[in-house]
Amino acid sequence: MITEQDTVNAILGDRRTMPPGDHGEAFAPANIALCKYWGKRNRTLNLPVNGSLSVSLGTLGTRTRLRPAERDTVTLNGALLPPNDPFCRRVGRFLDLFRVGDGGFAVETGNTVPTGAGLASSASGFAALTLALDTLFGWQLTPRERSILARLGSGSACRSVHSGFVEWYAGTRPDGMDSFAAPLADRWPGLRVGVITICDRPKPLGSREAMQRTVETSPLYGAWPNHAADGLAAVRRAIAARDFAAFGRAAEANAVAMHAVMLAAWPPVLYWQPETVSAMRRVWALRERGVSVYMTMDAGPNVKLLYQAADAATVRDGVGEHTAVAPFEEEAER
Ligand code: PMV
Repeated sequence: MITEQDTVNAILGDRRTMPPGDHGEAFAPANIALCKYWGKRNRTLNLPVNGSLSVSLGTLGTRTRLRPAERDTVTLNGALLPPNDPFCRRVGRFLDLFRVGDGGFAVETGNTVPTGAGLASSASGFAALTLALDTLFGWQLTPRERSILARLGSGSACRSVHSGFVEWYAGTRPDGMDSFAAPLADRWPGLRVGVITICDRPKPLGSREAMQRTVETSPLYGAWPNHAADGLAAVRRAIAARDFAAFGRAAEANAVAMHAVMLAAWPPVLYWQPETVSAMRRVWALRERGVSVYMTMDAGPNVKLLYQAADAATVRDGVGEHTAVAPFEEEAER
């Protein structure tokens, strides 16, 4: 069995024993999948069953600062976490892969998206941590290496090392060296992603567990890989053609199918709250009136809207208040 440490050693090679510098700092954006990653073919290495495609959220994400310390500490949004906090332990396990000697790291991390609210903050978190490690040690990782290392922290983190549209190639190799994300050349300045935050508390069931339960028990999971592959091709085609209706339809259909597959798991996995459903109905009602607005949802109750800049006011009136992101106009400085 290939371990995470094997992957790290294979990527870093001689760089594995380089001493850390004084500090490292990096930002990584959150990302919203337009075609979702749902199901792993290897749970240790976070290798996906299907490819996925996302859009990064510009300046919404995570900034992380790292320095060598006697022991590990994690400060999240200004508060020092207790060592037994689950997030702290997850970060510690990831850092174990990179330690030189038995020292620790002082990690200061700040999210500009609510933690655990289905806004993929673990994606931006592990991507920012990977990029900060790269600057701390001076490894000068290639984009592919950054993506593979971030994937070991959280699957969707491999997409958050890039901005804009990003595709994660599922790959077929058992060692996962062909499973990484790369940016698409296409840009879509008029695209808007709206985030309706229905609940910003951490979700009761994490995506890791929900994904595994779906793969193991949902009778509908067998249909997912083909549906996802078709959806991904449709999203890619629609982006290339700047066909917004085809783009929105493929993204929404993919999200709804993922939730249907989860709902058929046992025990059923349902992330939606009543407010999620009413937001969905408002999107559909607006579409009935001819407005080109679509939605997507991840492993959480929040609804993300997809629309074009010209429709911003109509969408706000019809669907309600939300955080609007212009992914191609707010690309952050690294
Ligand atoms: O990377 P994870 O384990 O947090 O899983 C992410 C799963 C979804 O957000 C639902 C889909 C995706 O592709 O981001």
